[in-house]
Amino acid sequence: MRESTSPRSLKTMNQLDFFKKFKRLKPLEPSPGILGCFFFSVCLIFCLFLLDYRTVTRRFPSGGQLGLVKWFGFNGSSSGGNVRVGFLEESGGRCDVFDGDWVWDESYPLYNSQDCLFADGGFRCLENGRPDSFYTKWRWQPKYCNLPRFDAKNMLEKLRNRRLVFVGDSIGRNQWESLLCMLSSAVRNKTKIYEVNGNPITKHSGFLIFRFKDYNCTIEYFRAPFLVPQGRAPAGVPEKVKTTLRVDQLDWSSPQWKGADVLVFNSGHWWNYEKTIRVGCYFQEGEEVKMEMSVESAYRRSIQTLVDWVGREVDMNKTRVFFRSYAPVHFSAGDWKTGGRCHLETMPDLGSLPVSSETFGQLKAVSDVVSEHLQKSNVTQMDVLNVTSLTALRKDGHLSIYYFGPNNGIAPLHRQDCSHWCLPGVPDTWNELLYALFLKGEYNRIQNSNSTQSAPAPV
Ligand SMILES: *[C@@H]1O[C@H](CO)[C@@H](O)[C@H](O)[C@H]1NC(C)=O
Ligand SMILES: *[C@@H]1O[C@H](CO)[C@@H](O)[C@H](O)[C@H]1NC(C)=O
Ligand SMILES: *[C@@H]1O[C@H](CO)[C@@H](O)[C@H](O)[C@H]1NC(C)=O
Ligand SMILES: *[C@@H]1O[C@H](CO)[C@@H](O)[C@H](O)[C@H]1NC(C)=O
Ligand SMILES: *[C@@H]1O[C@H](CO)[C@@H](O)[C@H](O)[C@H]1NC(C)=O
Ligand SMILES: *[C@@H]1O[C@H](CO)[C@@H](O)[C@H](O)[C@H]1NC(C)=O
Ligand SMILES: *[C@@H]1O[C@H](CO)[C@@H](O)[C@H](O)[C@H]1NC(C)=O
Repeated sequence: MRESTSPRSLKTMNQLDFFKKFKRLKPLEPSPGILGCFFFSVCLIFCLFLLDYRTVTRRFPSGGQLGLVKWFGFNGSSSGGNVRVGFLEESGGRCDVFDGDWVWDESYPLYNSQDCLFADGGFRCLENGRPDSFYTKWRWQPKYCNLPRFDAKNMLEKLRNRRLVFVGDSIGRNQWESLLCMLSSAVRNKTKIYEVNGNPITKHSGFLIFRFKDYNCTIEYFRAPFLVPQGRAPAGVPEKVKTTLRVDQLDWSSPQWKGADVLVFNSGHWWNYEKTIRVGCYFQEGEEVKMEMSVESAYRRSIQTLVDWVGREVDMNKTRVFFRSYAPVHFSAGDWKTGGRCHLETMPDLGSLPVSSETFGQLKAVSDVVSEHLQKSNVTQMDVLNVTSLTALRKDGHLSIYYFGPNNGIAPLHRQDCSHWCLPGVPDTWNELLYALFLKGEYNRIQNSNSTQSAPAPV
């Protein structure tokens, strides 16, 4: 599926091409930033050469079983002429797919926003006037293995007669819309994809369910920004308590997701002082409002509630559960309400970047709770899609001022969105990782059921 040209010559060509395009780009604000960008692009090209060099010099044993190749029609070791082992091969199983680099790839993006009827106008940066498209051209490359190339038909085939459900905040919705776009690229007749209640995607309802008719599968989104329910405060509490979050219960919509075949949770952007205690929203356990409970411990408690719920209510023989970790924001010179900006960012950070302590705290809370639970119950209940570090590098991928929808102009410079992401863009990568882990899990499931049952399991 990938080019068979030698990766080095291909990359050199890409670099030249890229350089030409870069010179053509007209930045919005002529400033000393141009010089900075120029310098940065030179550094970038240098880095790409370094990466290239590393790829060629580092060799990994590629061997392993070809079982997955037969099952899924993949051949990781042959993609791109690369010497890394394919993640789906048996020997690629221990590879940490979240440890890697962003590499320039001309074959990206995976879809064009004009071809995707299912993305909110607000996410279509190119159509909304964003002048550069570099941010659509980066592929995530794990250090020690290759990800399978996303194959929408294959994914739909695996999801036949099944439900895939996203639960979380609007960044989860961003990822859900990305997946709709990625999957719909394999369906020619788009009228065979529709919202089951006829709701338009821009309507902010509690949930949206898209059916892919030919596959009898649904890709669903439930809005639950805290994952736990928010409601009116009980009687007799101090007057400053306006609402409470029931950190010991899961969102009211949970009975609707319980039976899904794949669950993808996310949370985090609402778990801060501003969106809770500041507006009179405190935390409640049982009948008691915990006036002293900090936002961080309440967040931990809610993740605990989620993990317990998964262990209790979800049939692990049927359902795969993922938690997508916090996606960092990139406001500079302010935050969302004080004129913070990101609209001049056209390049990712190459190389590693320390994540802020708030971001780190969010990731740690989730991974701590999940691993504590693992120690207690011996069962892998939930996979963490650890996208925090790789996303931290992508300050170039946000909506910034291009979120008003096609033909509606651009937003004022002091009202930027450096939290949500352009589509196509960074959330596509989260879904490529989801795809890889999902396929890997399917394979393991088949193998396990083969070793524990005498009858062959249906695929
Ligand atoms: C997979 O790739 C390996 C190494 O490039 C090659 O030897 C093998 O024939 C390929 N298998 C298939 C099924 O394409
Ligand atoms: C997430 O991935 C990054 C990059 O590989 C790694 O440094 C970090 O330790 C990981 N965190 C967790 C909780 O797995
Ligand atoms: C369609 O999928 C649902 C599960 O999502 C299943 O219950 C139903 O039987 C399927 N219908 C057909 C015709 O296979
Ligand atoms: C697309 O699907 C719809 C409904 O499923 C059908 O009525 C229509 O004829 C199809 N169009 C084409 C071009 O196949
Ligand atoms: C899950 O599968 C295992 C092995 O096939 C079986 O022993 C167990 O009862 C199943 N659990 C549920 C809840 O169906
Ligand atoms: C976890 O595994 C250990 C050792 O295999 C076993 O003693 C323990 O009972 C298991 N715990 C649970 C909750 O299954
Ligand atoms: C599972 O068992 C069936 C029948 O015994 C066999 O056809 C299939 O190849 C096996 N699957 C794997 C992944 O080994």
